[in-house]
Formats: sequence, C-alpha cells, structure tokens
Amino acid sequence: MIEEAVRILRQTSSLLVITGAGVSQESGIPTFRGKNGLWQNYRAEDLATPWAFERDPETVWRWYDWRRGIIKNAQPNRGHLAIKELEELYENFYLITQNVDGLHGRTGVKNMIEIHGNLWRVRCTRENITFMLLDVPLKEIPPRCKCGALLRPDVVWFGESIPNELMEKAFSLLETYETLIVAGTSGVVYPVASFPTIMKSRGASVIEINVERTPISDVATVSIMGKTGDVLPEIVERLKKMV
Ligand code: OAD
Repeated sequence: MIEEAVRILRQTSSLLVITGAGVSQESGIPTFRGKNGLWQNYRAEDLATPWAFERDPETVWRWYDWRRGIIKNAQPNRGHLAIKELEELYENFYLITQNVDGLHGRTGVKNMIEIHGNLWRVRCTRENITFMLLDVPLKEIPPRCKCGALLRPDVVWFGESIPNELMEKAFSLLETYETLIVAGTSGVVYPVASFPTIMKSRGASVIEINVERTPISDVATVSIMGKTGDVLPEIVERLKKMV
C-alpha cells in the first residue's frame, strides 16, 4: 500500500494534505473520537457550541484552558515533521488542518489553512477582532476585551460556519490539486469530510492514512492502515530516495 502511495506521489506535481486529530495523537494530545476520544467523556454540545459559551462561558473557557495545558507541553511528532518535509519536496503544496493545537505551525510549515481555527488565538465576541492569548492579561475567566465584551477561543464550533475566505481558498485547492493525502481524521465532520470525495470525483488521487477504516476509506485510491508518525516519514524517505 505504501508502495502504491509512493508511486502516485512520485507522479504528482501538486499535493494537498488534510489532517485531523489523529496526527497529534502521538504527541499525547487526545483525539475526539475513537479510543479514549474526548467526546467519550465530554458532550460536544456542552463545550464546543456557541450556545454552550452563551450559557456557561466559564466552563467552556476552562475546558480550553485544560486542553491548552496539554498542548503547551507537547511537541510536534514525526508525522508533523514529515508533512513539513513534504512541503519542501513539492513546489505546489498546501496543508488544510482541522487541528486547533498549532503543532503544524510549530514545524515551520508555511502553506497552511487552520480551517477550524487555533486555540491560542482569542476573539472579541462583539468586535470580532483577534488576539494571541499571551497578549491578553487574564484578570478573569473568561477574559474580556478592552471594549468590555467576553473573549472566546478563535475556533469554529459546531453550528458555526468556517470563515468565507478560508472556504474559498480550500475550494480553489480542491478544484486544482492533483493528489490528496488525508491523515488522522475520522471523516465525519463537515465540510472537511466531503473534501476527499470532491477531489476524487474530479479525478484526483486520494491517499488515506489512519489506524482504522473510516468513511473516507471507501473513497480513497489507497488506504494505508497505520500511525501517521510511522507511515508519513516512511513515505518521505522513499520519495527522497527516488529523487
Ligand atoms: P477525530 O477524533 O474525529 O478522529 C481522529 C482520527 O484519527 C480517528 O479516525 C482515529 O482512528 C485516527 N487516529 C488516531 N490516532 C492515530 C494515529 N496515531 N495515526 C493515524 N490515525 C490516527 O478527529 P477529527 O477527524 O480531526 O471539531 O475531528 C474533526 C473535528 O471534530 C475536530 O476538528 C473537532 C472535532 O469535534 C470541533 O471541535 C468543532
């Protein structure tokens, strides 16, 4: 299976990579679904919706604080680093991540869309302006903007739309790129869950990497079962050998 993926990648001039929480699992960051997934112990509707924040902003803020605490001590793993290497190998490369942990950014990857936002960034609920969290003195939880309104994590919650400019950029990639690697996502959260099908129906190749089968496996040209921290570095190594 890796051989087939490498064969496709060797003939590719534009590569899109889509990642989900599985890519950060080997950095010690819990995924949402599957074994020990966050949604087994927490209810998404109580923590990751605009209504939850309206009802109980402190609980939502503290949950994000808890996740930031885990992420702060985590490092990008071999999967994240391999994706950065892929960026070096392809002239036309883009990464769309659903992860809000910022670990891809810490590898120095340049062409990236954080399509669900970033939990180190916060946004004024009145003015919609954003700040990096470190710039905001935390006198209370949740903190407030200078204008007096509450600050919220700058992430996309269930029931919210992805910002237009990000969707437009994503669609321009889906419509033009030759090959997609989709790694460590359960493929159930829309709109990203539809991206592999959109690319495949245009004739693009879709390579899936996951520890288990997902709805994307039915669409994928090649489905590789394995950890992204093992599979991605192996792919990169083989691609480099062939240059
Ligand atoms: P999920 O938690 O739904 O899925 C993680 C996927 O990664 C699962 O299919 C696992 O089998 C797989 N996986 C786990 N460890 C892996 C490893 N080491 N290597 C490869 N695969 C592995 O995460 P997402 O698909 O990212 O949104 O979830 C999508 C969105 O739903 C998230 O952005 C988040 C969530 O609720 C919001 O909070 C709005």
